[in-house]
Amino acid sequence: NAPRLPGRPPGSDDGWRTVARWEQLAVGTPLQAHVIGAEVDAWNVSPDRRLGTVWLLRGGDGPETLRALSAVCPHLGCLIDHTERGFVCPCHNSDFSARGAALRGPSPRSMDPIEARVRDGRVEVRWARFRLGGAERIREEG
Ligand code: FES
Repeated sequence: NAPRLPGRPPGSDDGWRTVARWEQLAVGTPLQAHVIGAEVDAWNVSPDRRLGTVWLLRGGDGPETLRALSAVCPHLGCLIDHTERGFVCPCHNSDFSARGAALRGPSPRSMDPIEARVRDGRVEVRWARFRLGGAERIREEG
């Protein structure tokens, strides 16, 4: 259960954001998508900011094969790219497998999973940030 966003009545935003359509995803070819939504802190609501970037992976026919990974490198936060050799972080050359497992380089852990689902053909994710630079995956609030 994600914490409620501050400043909003309960139930008004459960955090799910549409990032793509299911038919845009090809099996075995990751798709990069930006997560757009209102950014809320204790005082302000800033509509339609880029909250983050994800890689969407489709493993097969059904929506249950959908996975999403944060494109934020767990090392120091650069954007992870995808090449023919898999996921790579260009900043300090961390390599990740096709499923996001850390293989080589300074990244202290594998790519961070992001909650994802398909609703009426829409791919939705619940964006989350995780603490950089440590082996333990710790979710950051806000
Ligand atoms: Fe990705 Fe350093 S920020 S390897």
